[in-house]
Amino acid sequence: MKFQVQPSGPLLGEIEVPGDKSISHRAAILGAIAQGQTRIRGFLEGEDCLRTLTILSALGVEIEKLGPGHYVITGRGPAGLTEPENVLDVGNSGTTIRLLSGLLAGQRFMSILTGDDSIRKRPMERIIIPLTEMGACIRGRNNNRNAPLYIQGRQLYGVTYHSPVASAQVKSAILLAGLNAMGTTTVIEPLPSRDHTERMLMAFGACITAKGRTVILEPGQPLKGQEISIPGDISSAAFFIVAALIIPGSELLIKNVCVNPTRTGILKALQAMGAAIQILHEREEAGEPVADLMVKYSPLQGITVEPHWIPSLIDEIPILAVAASLARGTTIIRGAGELRLKETDRIKAITRELSRFGVQVEEVSDGMIITGTEEIIAADCNSYGDHRIAMAMTVMALRAAGTSTINDAAAVNVSFPNFFETLQTISGQIHK
Ligand code: S3P
Repeated sequence: MKFQVQPSGPLLGEIEVPGDKSISHRAAILGAIAQGQTRIRGFLEGEDCLRTLTILSALGVEIEKLGPGHYVITGRGPAGLTEPENVLDVGNSGTTIRLLSGLLAGQRFMSILTGDDSIRKRPMERIIIPLTEMGACIRGRNNNRNAPLYIQGRQLYGVTYHSPVASAQVKSAILLAGLNAMGTTTVIEPLPSRDHTERMLMAFGACITAKGRTVILEPGQPLKGQEISIPGDISSAAFFIVAALIIPGSELLIKNVCVNPTRTGILKALQAMGAAIQILHEREEAGEPVADLMVKYSPLQGITVEPHWIPSLIDEIPILAVAASLARGTTIIRGAGELRLKETDRIKAITRELSRFGVQVEEVSDGMIITGTEEIIAADCNSYGDHRIAMAMTVMALRAAGTSTINDAAAVNVSFPNFFETLQTISGQIHK
């Protein structure tokens, strides 16, 4: 599916973005292994999170849909899942395959996880190694590096794992395995990654402590079903934040966004570039900080992104690169080698696609160097089947001189199914 994008006038008004993707996955998974019912409102009905629901159903979990984003999950307890009759297909979802591997490693049955072409290329040894250390029987294709993954569930044992990568998927896989392990599980990360699993485990009643880069889980505490209202995803909001910042005259209120400090690196980076972003009505929901964001058009200045900010803005680098393309001066993004291991090699994808718009971008091994320009030409660009590349290039196209085309734009359905409609309500200039 192709989308044609024309230059946009000011973005004005008020929007809400869909529920947080990371929190939606976790709410469904913990609901499935808790005791009693978990009611979820604001669940992200994007392809990734729906895959998690489908797989949980295949594992015997009763999931009832009561309305848009509104589900009731009847928990089966920590070891109550049942052997699936078929291979479990995660589609494009890295969070589904990695988190569920941790969960399935301690269940007493066999399962096989696979996914689309992108998933089958992504690294799985990062979970296979720690889970194997915990006693799991888990094997992957390509000498245990790639999916499909075969898991024969068995008794696990707690370990202390020093993760070589700051990855919430790795941390969460180990913690979910730790719930069914004997003894304490400790994960130590090089830099803190998003902490939604820890917050939600705490809310469900698990015995978990988190301090800085270290998380410690004591198994054995029953998880109790919860009522969860999922706030908007800052990773989805980021596309509209940057769109409003780069289109003169824009003033946009984005309501109900999760502003968990492990996720707000994008706000920090944009503010350092001179962005006018106000964080309003800060409150707490489901153990997560939530706020409304008021964003106004702002002339931006290039910056050097601090390497220790990277985990807190990793998914926002494609759209940060768009902001940098329109900033005065140079923006340096380094220490972001993980980008090469996402839905596509995002360093390559961003560099290639921004160049089509006439931006000067230099690809380096662990990031990119972008020199901003005022003259953006219209482009015919690719999403590489990657939702965040599709959305970032759409935002870029709003500032181009002429009509741009985004090929394979349906990728947005992975995390933001009504992205184009939302954009239309505030700009009115997108054509299918
Ligand atoms: C996620 C963790 C991050 C992020 C991904 C979602 C999660 O991946 O990029 O979109 O929900 O745990 P890594 O764990 O690979 O850093």
